Amino acid sequence: MARKKIALIGAGNIGGTLAHLAAQKELGDVVLFDIAEGIPQGKALDLSQCGPVQGFDAKVTGTNNYKDIAGADVIIVTAGVPRKPGMSRDDLIATNANIVKSVTENVIKHSPDCIIIVVSNPLDVMTYCAFLNSKFPAQRVFGMAGILDTARYRAFLATELGVSPKDIQAVLMGGHGDTMVPLPRYTTVGGIPVTELIDKEKLDAIVERTKKGGGEIVNLLGTSAWYAPGTAAAQMVEAIVRDQKRVFPVCAWLQGEYGLNDVYLGVPVILGRNGIEKIIELKLTKEEMELTHASAKAVKEVMDVLDNMNSVTA
Ligand code: NAI
Ligand code: 2OP
Repeated sequence: MARKKIALIGAGNIGGTLAHLAAQKELGDVVLFDIAEGIPQGKALDLSQCGPVQGFDAKVTGTNNYKDIAGADVIIVTAGVPRKPGMSRDDLIATNANIVKSVTENVIKHSPDCIIIVVSNPLDVMTYCAFLNSKFPAQRVFGMAGILDTARYRAFLATELGVSPKDIQAVLMGGHGDTMVPLPRYTTVGGIPVTELIDKEKLDAIVERTKKGGGEIVNLLGTSAWYAPGTAAAQMVEAIVRDQKRVFPVCAWLQGEYGLNDVYLGVPVILGRNGIEKIIELKLTKEEMELTHASAKAVKEVMDVLDNMNSVTA
């Protein structure tokens, strides 16, 4: 069977981490593309020299030429600028929308059958931008945020409870921003509802810290996180190329699910070789549903900004 081809548009911090993990897991051959000359080529060389040490066999190449991404099966877009302290994800919209539009135009030209995973911020709206400009079915255009956000929530809970993060399962709804909605009612520790193991005050504090988890790291590093975002994106690529039917929160195009229409929002989905194979509709309480709708409203407001920027919509 031919190896899968994974193209990473943006060879920055997340692109580099993702390339390393994709090669290490032998998910396919990896092409790193960036407009910065020398960076994708240099990172590709460095990463391919990990192969003999780590014992992986995946071709990693770097390029500034879109022709080299031809025929990719999965394309992950991290191109754009990251946050600096004091910036919200939404502050990035004008710059990153123009970048994501031009990236998408090149992606569909060279890889018309690919699946696109967007990572660039503001995540939900950049995913919408790629959807509009690709005209691909929504099943093949979605965004990475939920795995990262639940990973933060799970990591904080594991530390607080003194248990392995492997045993914490959780789901989270909503946009990739301060309005995200972690769902304690659907959080378990080795199968035990988390609410039986932690008091409400501590759990509420962890939910709040999760919502601001990206900003906490931006304030420490002066730029946004990349190890966990790259790892989360690699998990999505793996689910697709290995047709694993994994259940993850993913930024997906909603058409009536949860009573929401025409909005990209984080919801649990089944991810396999066709991309989003099913959106799972949880039975939410009135309060959980209200929080999810409030998050959708916040995302829609930024989608409207994009719709009003004629140059970046198809
Ligand atoms: P970075 O600055 O390290 O890398 C971005 C790369 O994009 C740079 O190498 C730059 O040269 C490249 N680039 C810029 N314009 C381009 C174009 N037109 N075509 C191709 N490449 C282009 O940034 P990093 O840390 O990798 O973050 C990437 C994006 O991911 C940012 O927008 C950041 O806010 C976002 N992010 C999203 C997360 C999520 O959960 N969805 C989590 C963390 C960051
Ligand atoms: C993060 O959540 C800033 O979106 C970026 O780390």
